[in-house]
Amino acid sequence: MTATTGFAGVLEGWRGRGVVIRHDPPTGAWMFVALHDDTLGRLVGGTRMRVYGRPEDGLVDAMRLAEGMTRKWAVLDLPFGGGKAVIALNRPLAGETERRELLARYGALLDTLQGAFGTGEDLGTTPEDMAFLASVSRQVVGPGAAPPDPGPYTALGVLAGIKAALGHAFRDPVVQGRRILVQGVGDVGRRLAELLVGEGAELLVTDIDEARAAAVAAELAGTVVSPSEALSTPCEVLAPCAVGGVLHAGSIPSLRCRVVAGSANNQLGVPADAESLRARGILYAPDYVINGGGALALGRMSLGEPDGPGLRRRLEGIGDVLTEIFREARERDVSPLEAAEERVGRILARGPSSR
Ligand code: PHE
Repeated sequence: MTATTGFAGVLEGWRGRGVVIRHDPPTGAWMFVALHDDTLGRLVGGTRMRVYGRPEDGLVDAMRLAEGMTRKWAVLDLPFGGGKAVIALNRPLAGETERRELLARYGALLDTLQGAFGTGEDLGTTPEDMAFLASVSRQVVGPGAAPPDPGPYTALGVLAGIKAALGHAFRDPVVQGRRILVQGVGDVGRRLAELLVGEGAELLVTDIDEARAAAVAAELAGTVVSPSEALSTPCEVLAPCAVGGVLHAGSIPSLRCRVVAGSANNQLGVPADAESLRARGILYAPDYVINGGGALALGRMSLGEPDGPGLRRRLEGIGDVLTEIFREARERDVSPLEAAEERVGRILARGPSSR
């Protein structure tokens, strides 16, 4: 998070299209809809809801997440632009009634934008929230009245990405026997953990909610690692699947993994951290590439594609894209992030694809 205080300092110099800001007096929450880049199409991104220390932390999160969505849609080659919303709470909500009333007011705000921004789930919002939001607002994307949970699709894409990273780092994509640490066992991390165990990985789990980590570890025969030791525990793959900003100058020197490949958005503190990882010989799967499965599924289904074997193959394709990025990075002696950024730049410069 930034040390900047006040909205002005956060917004100054941002190169997005703009940010819609609304305060919600009944709850004290702030709503931020960050509209980043509509080169490829209508702005679509999830809605995150959580407690932040300061409203401007929520604003920064929304802006960075929106930038990530622009890149995610570009890599996926889908006709959507990057936007993201954050409902920044100053305290946990009192209950279901307060939650629904807040979501209804948020839905009204989205309707004011008349379709400029479409949304779905993100950290802190649930399929039930989205079904409710879809009943009060027209801005929820996905097929039908109750859009599917993107989490399982994200997890499938991350699994494909982990295999690609293993293949690049060890010349062997097989998960069996690999020691993999999943940091954060929420909607995506938990499903990823299941998939990994299904493929014979040695599972380590950590979560700030230690009871949740213990429950997942017990169910999947994994080992719990305490949050304070998570980033320095020896493993082959570290899969960050919680909040962003885990990889930075303070944490990178202590990492004891060969690969970082997980679902969290905005894993790096700053872009230069990709270079520090490379200097340490750690292969980093750019977050907006490996975690695109949920966006891919929701985006494709909202364009009319059925959920079936074709979509599964596209999710596996996330691994192929990562393999290309890793190879390109190696050939050009740059970080995978830099190779991914150049790919994004080429697609945005080309504009909407003709399909
Ligand atoms: N919030 C998830 C993401 O960042 C899934 C999602 C994608 C939800 C696109 C809505 C729209 O990828």
